[in-house]
Formats: sequence, C-alpha cells, structure tokens
Amino acid sequence: MADAPQEETGRLDDAVADERNASLEAAASSSVASTPEEGAQKPQEMRTRPILTVADLQTSFFTDNGEVQAVDHLYFQLREGQSLGIVGESGSGKSVTCLSVLKLLPMPPARIVGGKVLYHGKLPGLPNAARETVDYPVAAETLETTPPGVDLVTLSEKGMRAIRGDRIAMIFQDPMTSLNPFLRVQTQLTEVLRLHRKMTKADARSRSQEMLKKVGIPDPDKVMETYPHQLSGGMRQRVMIAMALLCDPQLLIADEPTTALDVTIQAQILELIRELRDQFNTAVVMITHDLGVVAGIADHVLVMYAGRVMESAPCDEIFESPQHPYTLALLRSIPTLDSANRRLYAIPGLPPDLTRKPPGCPFAPRCEFAFDRCRAEFPPLRYPSPTHKVACWLEQAPTIEGGR
Ligand SMILES: Nc1ncnc2c1ncn2[C@@H]1O[C@H](COP(=O)(O)OP(=O)(O)OP(=O)(O)O)[C@@H](O)[C@H]1O
Ligand code: SF4
Ligand SMILES: [Mg+2]
Repeated sequence: MADAPQEETGRLDDAVADERNASLEAAASSSVASTPEEGAQKPQEMRTRPILTVADLQTSFFTDNGEVQAVDHLYFQLREGQSLGIVGESGSGKSVTCLSVLKLLPMPPARIVGGKVLYHGKLPGLPNAARETVDYPVAAETLETTPPGVDLVTLSEKGMRAIRGDRIAMIFQDPMTSLNPFLRVQTQLTEVLRLHRKMTKADARSRSQEMLKKVGIPDPDKVMETYPHQLSGGMRQRVMIAMALLCDPQLLIADEPTTALDVTIQAQILELIRELRDQFNTAVVMITHDLGVVAGIADHVLVMYAGRVMESAPCDEIFESPQHPYTLALLRSIPTLDSANRRLYAIPGLPPDLTRKPPGCPFAPRCEFAFDRCRAEFPPLRYPSPTHKVACWLEQAPTIEGGR
C-alpha cells in the first residue's frame, strides 16, 4: 500500500495536531462548567461525534496457499464514549480488523485491499445520520473525509505513529506484546509521554504514577522500578492498560484483554475499562469471543463470521431478539446454570477456509436454516430496527425448538 504523497501527509499530520488541540481545548472548556448541570450535559453532547468510521474495509493475507480474505467488506462506525463489542469464533477476523485500523499487520503478507478507515471522518451521503453504529452499503470511494478527519488507510507511517498510543491505543491479550521485557516499567511509561506529550522527565514520572494508581496498582513507586516479568499477570495487564491510557486516547481497542486472567481479575479489569470510558468519554472497541464480557461492557455489538458482519445491533437487542442464525448459535453455546446438567450446544462444523470462501452465505454449510439461495448468493442486509442490521436471507428471526 503506498504512503500518501508528502504534501498530503504533511496536511494530514497537521490535521491530527489541530484535532488534538481542539480536543484539549474542548477538555479545558468542559472543566470550567460552573454548575453540576452544565458539567453533566457535556458528556452527552460530546458523545455525538463519530470517532472512527470503517467503510468497506477489505484486508487479505497473500500466502503460498492463496489470498486469505480475513476482513471482507466491513462497515461500522463508532462515536465518542460509545463501546462496541466485536464477537465471533476464532479466525472470524476480529483481530485483523483492529490491527488493520492501526496498520499493525505485517505487510506483506497482509495488505489492505480496499476501503477506508476514517478517524474523525465526516461522511456525506450517510443514509441515516441518527444511526449510532452504522453499516451501510455505500461504496467507500464515495465517502469523503472532512478535515480534521484522516483516512488511516492512506496515512503515512509518520502520521500513524502520531496517532498510535496517543489518540488511539490498543491493549492486547498478552501484555508482553506491548511491554518490553528489558526495560523497567518506569522507562516504558515515561517514554510514551516524552514522545507524544514532550513532557519533562519529572512530569512524565508523576503522570505515570498517577495513571498506575488509577488502574488500581496500590504501590506505584515500587511497580515503576520493576521489570515486567517481576509482576503477576493481572498487574502486567494493568500496567499495559495504564500505558495505553497515559495520553487520554479517544479510542481504546482492547483485543481479548481478559482472556488469560482469572475471573476476579477479569471483572476488575472490565470495571476499570468501563470507568475510564465513563470518566474520559473514551470510545472502546472490545474484541472477545465471550458474550458475557460483551453484555457487561458493550453498547453495540458486531457479530463477525468469516471476515464479514453477520449481525450488528445494540447490545440488548442482540441478547433479547437475535436475528441471525449464527448469533443464535453463539448464544446457545453460552453455558448457563440451568444447562449444567445438559450437554452444552456446540455449533456443528468448522468456519470456512478463507482462501476458498463459499459463493453465498459463508455460514450456509453450518446453518440449520440454509436453503438453496443461501448457497448461491451473499444475503442482502435486513434492518429489523434502524440500529439493527442482519445479513441473512431469512425474512425474520428463526425460532429454535425448545428455545435457546
Ligand atoms: N499472518 C497471517 N497469515 C495468514 N493468515 C493470517 C495471518 N494472520 C491471521 N490470518 C488469518 O486471518 C483470519 C482472521 O484472523 P484473526 O486473527 O483476525 O481472527 P480472530 O477473530 O481474532 O480469532 P481469535 O479469536 O482466535 O483471536 C484467520 O483465518 C487467520 O488464519
Ligand atoms: S443466509 Fe441462509 S445460510 Fe446464511 S445464516 Fe441466513 S439462513 Fe443461514
Ligand atoms: Mg484475535
């Protein structure tokens, strides 16, 4: 993928800087709210700005076995303060979606084949501006970026470095992905602030301590002096979250951040992410294969399968009126207390080989409701409500004998 021309890159980098200044000014003005009512109104107003719009994103890996279409015509939009859960089985393209947003994939073999990832982009021609999280069949070429919006797909690596870890931060399942085993925690945290915020050593140290405290580390002074391997898994995860949040990112992408942790720590980390979202109006993308985690944190849910969105809806609608057979199957696989004495449901079959996707609905080989058309043509979108979208040929939600 070619970088943007130099002149354009300069403009985009300036746009990012302008946008950051605007955010800082907005934060400063919000702090002068003189009455509790004024203060309370601010987050609501701020929630309306779209922060990330992914339009027709296609990411492939070019391997010896052929093109792996890991992300296939994906659309979603996320607004400030909103949290989006992305769920799906292993290999459905959840991580590749987020790594494409931050351009952290190894290129080659990966390549963003098409689409746009608009950071603060405005989209003329959006069919329903009221939709909180949209997914609309509009060709990416027709979508424009209005300054200070930036298309991350064409942004230079220099521009991406200014955004990563600053405006958009990511936390990984394995903290050692972002922590350096050879450097003390203090060095790793303060470097982020010195790089992105040009802070003095002393200021960076005190901000780092403050953030460690915020993520629930009881003795920040001591932890600052340690190397990552000297900390427990839960503490390392907290340090990584602290590092991700140092610059008050507008968007936090969390890729299975709690899977490796025990249940108590898992709950604490999720609570922490929720608090940070509410406190700083940070938008959150939470990737998980655990629908329980989604229920606890997401406002809106994308159900992914074979690189595509199968269903997209507000979180309560996904649980109360799931429409897509794949979503239903995922919900049926959740263990419940009353299922303790029953055999747990497992979705039959395996996800498709992404180098040889079936021509129609990718779920057809495993779907108990499939009919001929499903195997021939990819289904159109159906909207059961303005914020609920389903990619399925069925005209209404299927019913399952015996319920879920
Ligand atoms: N480096 C790579 N080379 C080739 N194919 C890859 C590579 N990385 C990922 N893929 C493929 O891309 C697809 C999507 O992978 P991705 O990691 O996004 O899945 P996921 O939904 O995050 O799964 P999990 O829940 O296991 O983390 C998979 O089929 C995977 O095999
Ligand atoms: S389109 Fe057909 S195969 Fe695909 S989920 Fe719907 S009913 Fe099943
Ligand atoms: Mg993954």
